[in-house]
Amino acid sequence: MSDPRPIGVFDSGVGGLTVARAIIDLLPHEPLLYVGDSARFPYGSQPVERIRTYALEIAEYLVRREVKVLVIACNSIEVSAIGDIAVTADIPVVGVVNPGSRAAIRATRNGIVGVIGTEATIATGAYQRAMGSAVTLHAAACPAFVDHVERGDTSSPALREAARGYLEPLMDAGIDTLVLGCTHYPLLSGLLQFELGPDVVLVSSAEETAKDVYGELVSRDLLAPEGGRPVHEFATTGDPARFQDLAELFLGPEVRNLGVRQVTVEGAWS
Ligand code: DGL
Repeated sequence: MSDPRPIGVFDSGVGGLTVARAIIDLLPHEPLLYVGDSARFPYGSQPVERIRTYALEIAEYLVRREVKVLVIACNSIEVSAIGDIAVTADIPVVGVVNPGSRAAIRATRNGIVGVIGTEATIATGAYQRAMGSAVTLHAAACPAFVDHVERGDTSSPALREAARGYLEPLMDAGIDTLVLGCTHYPLLSGLLQFELGPDVVLVSSAEETAKDVYGELVSRDLLAPEGGRPVHEFATTGDPARFQDLAELFLGPEVRNLGVRQVTVEGAWS
């Protein structure tokens, strides 16, 4: 048995493309349907209840489009709404917090781990819960980062200055591992590694999450037929030309060859 339906992946913008990239690499026969809610970006500085409403609307849109699994490629959405999405969606749901936490526990040598994320993600304490007493965790919200990434900026002096301010307390605490608790942040890996130095291990949840997606598809017999090239679909609630520019920059040729559609998801849940 095989299942040709697409994998649904969503985020507030282009950050989830880091997870999409990892899924495409591990599961090259699987079609993806990606939605970035760029019209309502950023999520991470908004109240949890509003993030939840937006997230349920996108999840409903993807379920109606008959995806076979939902990948919440956004920490802010996961910490605000994964329970509600899982109850309502009635298909497997994969998030990013547990995969990232798992990888960090494996990576740390001194047991002192940092996590950076949006204000929403850090405020919920989701990473503290996920890692429990396995490590000593130091958390920092980095609200300025996502705007830089959505502008295509991964190295400006202003961004580096902001990074130094956010990272200093974590370095002072002696972290040897840093979880990128926002799917936009792997796009800043060069900058973060430069500022932290070579001894701190950066953990992106993207690859680990893709392994969970692989596991879900195999164990539930949902893999797409092998052979042939899957047709992906990338959609945004915002400006498709702008999304396409960024997506080409961050994800690569998959987007260049397909184009980006504009979709409306508001009210989808009613
Ligand atoms: N990529 C989202 C995350 O993982 C956050 C971006 C935003 O603030 O909208 O948390």
